[in-house]
Parts: sequence; structure tokens; C-alpha cells
Amino acid sequence: MTKRSAVEASTEERTAQKGRTWATRPNVLVCGTPGTGKTEMSAAIARKVKMQHLNVGDLAARLDAYDGWDEDRQCHILNEDRVLDEMEILVSKGGCVVDYHACDFFPERWFDLVLVLRATTEVLFDRLTARNYAHAKIQENLQCEIMQVLLDEARDNYPEPVVVEVQNNTRLDFDSTIDRVVRWHDQWLRDHAPPSST
Ligand SMILES: Nc1ncnc2c1ncn2[C@@H]1O[C@H](COP(=O)(O)OP(=O)(O)OP(=O)(O)O)[C@@H](O)[C@H]1O
Ligand SMILES: [Mg+2]
Repeated sequence: MTKRSAVEASTEERTAQKGRTWATRPNVLVCGTPGTGKTEMSAAIARKVKMQHLNVGDLAARLDAYDGWDEDRQCHILNEDRVLDEMEILVSKGGCVVDYHACDFFPERWFDLVLVLRATTEVLFDRLTARNYAHAKIQENLQCEIMQVLLDEARDNYPEPVVVEVQNNTRLDFDSTIDRVVRWHDQWLRDHAPPSST
């Protein structure tokens, strides 16, 4: 599987969408700059609506799915094909909350909701500092958040109604997003319920 933009893949993906095998459960992607709270949010969503939390970073580590080391960014280079192949089996069943900072290498058809978590510079600075990240890494991530790189990436790769941007600075923000996702999930199930036989 190779990286394709939503536009390039539209014909093929729309055809595939008709044959979705996971129509009984939706899939959610939680993305955003490191430190915006994806893992905590994904775990809470998974608990609340009984979905499977798929942390892509953890999955890659477990599979050792890397194509080397990025010296500039001081991180592994993900073997995207390897990760996507492994995920396909799980995602095709539906009911997955996928937790990863980026969103552009997943097939568009996989997700019914792409949640982009946002945080203010002050909040993100404190969270990344608490992790003892190097100054350059903190600055790079703050810049990424200020320039809304992940939000633009989501908007470029998924249909407009699928992408939802939410602030995740406070516990109040967190709880309100969880409530919103639970309502969205319940509505999705109602909208996709099999027609009654009566
Ligand atoms: N809404 C929130 N209010 C306050 N603190 C939060 C909130 N959401 C997450 N946090 C805290 O922010 C920190 C980062 O959260 P988390 O590890 O979930 O981020 P992440 O986006 O998964 O980061 P990474 O991309 O590095 O995996 C944690 O200490 C977490 O407890
Ligand atoms: Mg995380």
C-alpha cells in the first residue's frame, strides 16, 4: 500500500467504500501535535464507547516497523506500508480509535471521524517541558501547532464533515469532547442500523 492523497484515490476509494465491511461500527482517528492529548483522549473514547484503542506508535515499536532513524527530528522513520498492512485487518472490522499525530498516510475510507486535538502554546509548552524534551524538539512542536500543520493535513486528506477540530487544554475541554464523541457515535449507530424487517 502506498501513500495517496484523497483526490488521487477518490475513484478507487469510493468504490471500496461501498464494500466496507465495517459498516456496523465506525472508526475514529485522533490526531494532532505531540502533547495535545491524543493518547489520553483515545483511551477515554475507547472505554466510553467500547472501541479498540490502536496506538500507531506502539504498534510500530512492537513490529519494529521502521525504515531507519531521522537525525534531524531525532525519531524513527516509520515503515508506513508495514504499519498499514497490520492495521488493515483490525480497522476493517470497525470499532477502532486510531491514535497518531499524522493522518495523511491512512486511506481516506478508513475513518468516519477525524478528531484534530489542539492546544495553546502555553499549555503545550508546559506539557512538553514536563516530558523533558530537548529545547529544539519543543520549539519544533510548538511551531507545528501554531502553524496548524496537522489540522491542514486533516482538511487536505478527509472530507470536510469528517474533520472535527477541538481544543484540548483543560479537563473541561476533555470532558466536553468525550460527550460530543459519545453523541456522535450513538447517532452514527442509529444512522447505520440495518433496516427493520417490519
Ligand atoms: N484535556 C487535558 N487537560 C489537561 N491535561 C491533559 C489533557 N489532555 C491530556 N493532558 C495531559 O497532557 C499530557 C500529554 O497527553 P498525551 O500523552 O495523551 O498526548 P499525546 O498527544 O498522545 O502525545 P504524543 O504525540 O507524544 O504521544 C499528559 O500528561 C496528559 O495527562
Ligand atoms: Mg500519545
